[in-house]
Order: sequence, then C-alpha cells, then structure tokens
Amino acid sequence: MRKPVMAGNWKMNCDNEEALQLADGVTARAGQVEDALVILCPPATALSTVHQVIANSNVKLGAQNLFWEEEGAFTGELSAKMLLSCGCEFVIVGHSERRGRFGNPDEAEVEDLGAIFGDTDATVNRKIHAALAAGLQPIVCVGELLAERQAGATDDVVEDQVRAALEGVTEEAAGNIIFAYEPVWAIGTGEVCDADEADRVCGMIRQILAAIYSDDLAEGMQVLYGGSVKPENVEGLMAQDNIDGGLVGGASLQADSFGRLIEAAVASAG
Ligand code: 13P
Repeated sequence: MRKPVMAGNWKMNCDNEEALQLADGVTARAGQVEDALVILCPPATALSTVHQVIANSNVKLGAQNLFWEEEGAFTGELSAKMLLSCGCEFVIVGHSERRGRFGNPDEAEVEDLGAIFGDTDATVNRKIHAALAAGLQPIVCVGELLAERQAGATDDVVEDQVRAALEGVTEEAAGNIIFAYEPVWAIGTGEVCDADEADRVCGMIRQILAAIYSDDLAEGMQVLYGGSVKPENVEGLMAQDNIDGGLVGGASLQADSFGRLIEAAVASAG
C-alpha cells in the first residue's frame, strides 16, 4: 500500500515572515499526521525558517530546484548538499515552470522564458542523478502543454519526459523518486484535469516504470497529480487507483485549504 502524499509547492511566494506563519499554521493543523506524507516546498530563502518551524512535527521539507554540481562558480545556484544542510529531504525537479512551459497565457507571453528557466530533459536527468546521489528524494514533474494535448500528443510527451528523466538511473535509486503528473494547462488556471484522465496518465507512467524496471518498482512508486488541486476536487482525485497524492500550488498557500487537502489524503489511506 502506497502512502498518500500532499506536497505544497509555494513557488515564488512568502518572504520569511509569511513562510513562518504558513508553516506554523500547517504544522498546528497537521503536524502529527502519520497516515500521509506532508511536504512543504518553500522558496530557498525560507527553507531554514520553515525547517525550524516543522522540526518537531512529521512535516517534511523540500526545495523547488537544485543544480547538479556539488560546488563552484555557478552564481545563484544551489547544490544538493546545500539543500540537505537546510533540512531538505525532497526536491522538486523539472517543474514545467523551470522548463519554461507555462499554463497561464500571462506568463507565457513573457519573452524567452525557455532561456531564463532553462530546464530540458537532459538537465532534469542530471539534477535527478545529483539529488539521488546526495540522498534527496526528487519529485519529478512531467506533463503536456495544451497544444500538445490538442494534437493528441499527451502520452508521447509524458512518456518521453519520463524515460529521459530516468536515463541511467538504477532500479534501486529509482525507488527513491516520486513522480508528479502536472498537465501544464491545468497549472494556476483553475482548470483541473478530469480525475479519470489524470488517473489514466498516472497509470501510464506506472506502466512505463514497469517496462523500464519491474512491476514491484512500478507498484511501489508514489505518483502524484498536480494542477489546480483544491479542497473541492481533491477527493475525486484521491479516490483514483493510480493517484497517490497532490503537488499543490495555489491551494497550499493557506493553512486552511492545505489542511483540508491533507485531511483528504489521510482519509484516502483508510
Ligand atoms: P496550482 O495548484 O496553483 O495549479 O499549481 C500546481 C503546481 O504547479 C504545483 O507544482
């Protein structure tokens, strides 16, 4: 039985004071939860603050990105070792926003996002190797753009991203990965993917894992859905066989709504 997961990706939100308040609210509400894995992914500036707040709880800490080198002249980048030293156990890798793929037209209109947020399948793979080697569990994001879905390319895009992410990753190491299916058109748009369809794609990811590794690995891996997860739709998503939890943006920014998502994750375990 896979443990349900509720991970909050705070993205570029919360200064240190706001992060402290939010982490405090989540911990007060769900700090002792045991039947679900609760992960907070604040911006890097707030990792240490949040780590202190959650220290005596079951809530875990994740970062939103990393660089694959251990140290050196890489201005502005953060290594796995640095994230570990802030108390991280998880790190999001290959989020569509880091790949320069945005669901919201406002952001998509910003020029050269691909160049600014430069993740590609190849860099995502390097980051996964670096995270795993350091003992961080990567939460690996995959998902298609609206245009790709409309062209009938969803399965091919997701399969290519999954296979590229896992290039050279052994079965033993892969056992420490969490996948997140995040259709880009559903991120920050209020447009949630139908639970059935999200379940189908998460199931397909599991089949790809079985083909690359083994049925055991595929059965054991936690696969999350992300994209406009809210208290109103979370139960339908959590009821799906292949969806083990949520990677949540907007609804993770308030302790009350995130607390309700955690409750739904706990309820799905029962
Ligand atoms: P929203 O929940 O705001 O759609 O964001 C989803 C996401 O990108 C989580 O990583």
